[in-house]
Amino acid sequence: MAKLLLLPGDGIGPEVMAEVKRLIAFMNENALGRFETEEALVGGSCYDLYGVAITEDTMAKARTADAILFGAVGGPKWDGVPYDVRPEAGLLRLRKELGLFANIRPAICYPALADSSSLKREVVDGLDIIILRELTGGLYFGEPKTITDLGNGQKRAIDTQVYDTYEIERIARVGFELARKRRNKLTSTEKRNVMKSGVLWHEVVADLHKREYADVKLEHQLADACGMQLVRWPKQFDVIVCDNLFGDMLSDVAAMLTGSLGMLPSASLGEVDVKTKKRSGLYEPVHGSAPDIAGTGVANPIAMVASFAMALRYSLGMAKAADLVDQAIAAALAKGLRTPDIKSEGATLVGTAQMGEAILGEMARLAGAAR
Ligand code: IPM
Ligand code: MN
Repeated sequence: MAKLLLLPGDGIGPEVMAEVKRLIAFMNENALGRFETEEALVGGSCYDLYGVAITEDTMAKARTADAILFGAVGGPKWDGVPYDVRPEAGLLRLRKELGLFANIRPAICYPALADSSSLKREVVDGLDIIILRELTGGLYFGEPKTITDLGNGQKRAIDTQVYDTYEIERIARVGFELARKRRNKLTSTEKRNVMKSGVLWHEVVADLHKREYADVKLEHQLADACGMQLVRWPKQFDVIVCDNLFGDMLSDVAAMLTGSLGMLPSASLGEVDVKTKKRSGLYEPVHGSAPDIAGTGVANPIAMVASFAMALRYSLGMAKAADLVDQAIAAALAKGLRTPDIKSEGATLVGTAQMGEAILGEMARLAGAAR
């Protein structure tokens, strides 16, 4: 029995999570999996009820779950809430306290969607790359992190970019291991031309490469140049490893290559526990809470469903079921169904629930065929 914690969150989070819940029920009913789910509030919806972005009770549940499925948090409604309890604080606390340092964001351009991208078809068609983002260090968590009143009508804001050797080494290791199972190429990005953290990043990645991964092709790119190369010719990449902030930006860029931000899933993994051999895993779409379309039933559920597929693959040891979900998504797209964010000429425009239903239908067909 796999224990899943569902945290739908705010905005379109609950709408896209609803499609995953249907999929879970279907898999339970058809002996394609055995899941036990619990649900809790996070982000603004949690703040409204409890005055915090995540409760202690939910944190405790998160620590014992086999996988956490996360929707999205935030929205203009909570613009004025205190910084410490803003919706995003719930997500950041989960990442930090569960030690989810490795954020895997695959950017895959389904052939059916190559025309939805703002880039030319030949640039993105068949694209399959991974942005690997360090998720528990760097500018997001470095101290000091303050705004001080200088008393002369001026204020000073400080964020701190800080990385220790072990943090760089463990994320680079994940990058080399991922690359080995793919096209064997790792691109490491930093700004060593202006940042000390970039100098250390470069040095640690290069050393690890020489020591343990000389068989993998390693390339270094400055983070700004990498952004440019991502939109110029993204197929040159296989796995790109970056720090927390650069990874945030580069993964949004990579997402758009695939046609829409609504397509990109992600997995955030902790270290493997030596005793239990288990690792924490949180799975979330890269898109946000999209308050502008929340409640209208048009959100694309694919990134959320694909995040669930990643949970099956990386936390639950269910690679076959994960393949089935991924194939069902591709099949629904191949049938010409499109939510508004990926609409194209001649396609059938559908809403969140219809897309979810179509994926379920394809899943049933594929699972039947597999039996
Ligand atoms: C992401 C998001 C988050 C981040 C926000 C919601 C805190 O943009 O997962 O990419 O900045 O990491
Ligand atoms: Mn982001």
